[in-house]
Amino acid sequence: MNEIIYREMTLSDIEQVYAIECSCFTQPWSVESLIGELVRNNIAYYVVAEADGRIVGYAGIWVMFDEAHMTNIAVIPEYRRMGVATNIILSMMRYAAGKGAEKMTLEVREFNFKAQNLYASLDFRKVGIRKKYYSDTGENAFILWNDDIRSTLIKNQNGKSHHDNHENIQEDQMK
Ligand SMILES: CC(C)(COP(=O)(O)OP(=O)(O)OC[C@H]1O[C@@H](n2cnc3c(N)ncnc32)[C@H](O)[C@@H]1OP(=O)(O)O)[C@@H](O)C(=O)NCCC(=O)NCCS
Repeated sequence: MNEIIYREMTLSDIEQVYAIECSCFTQPWSVESLIGELVRNNIAYYVVAEADGRIVGYAGIWVMFDEAHMTNIAVIPEYRRMGVATNIILSMMRYAAGKGAEKMTLEVREFNFKAQNLYASLDFRKVGIRKKYYSDTGENAFILWNDDIRSTLIKNQNGKSHHDNHENIQEDQMK
């Protein structure tokens, strides 16, 4: 597996990011929304993971004073369970901490267990529920917070690197 580079998203990444967005989500963000995040939203920060010139994952946050709100995250299936999402989130935490943020929040579908595992591994804890938040399935949203992103960064200062891709076994178990 070749080296994966983590860097800030640019406009030239949007076409690939939109394709991932469509393949991973039932209600994908539009190209216009993604462009708007990069050119008009000055509290937004987006990171991509790139392998051999191909975008394999991305995520974004909005940083508001001492809080960062994660907007979305996705990794293409071939690159899952290799630490890509973990490393993207750590890189956004590093950016947010540099801007003065101390905590980070996000919403996750109540039945998205793999994402919940990911967030638990990065010290996010469930603090509330938004009832029937997702109109496509009627699912509730869990509201998660990490109240101390600096200590998560210290614990994970070397990032995550996986050499074994055991995604298929785990994904089959989730079905
Ligand atoms: C959720 C998602 C972003 C995870 O990306 P990833 O790069 O595979 O995540 P990582 O490799 O960093 O996984 C870190 C931890 O998350 C948990 N996790 C991730 N995928 C999992 C799975 N399929 N089953 C169980 N736990 C899982 C594990 O605890 C994992 O650590 P481990 O591999 O040491 O056991 C990816 O599956 C995805 O894009 N899903 C579709 C989009 C989505 O659901 N986004 C989240 C919206 S809230």
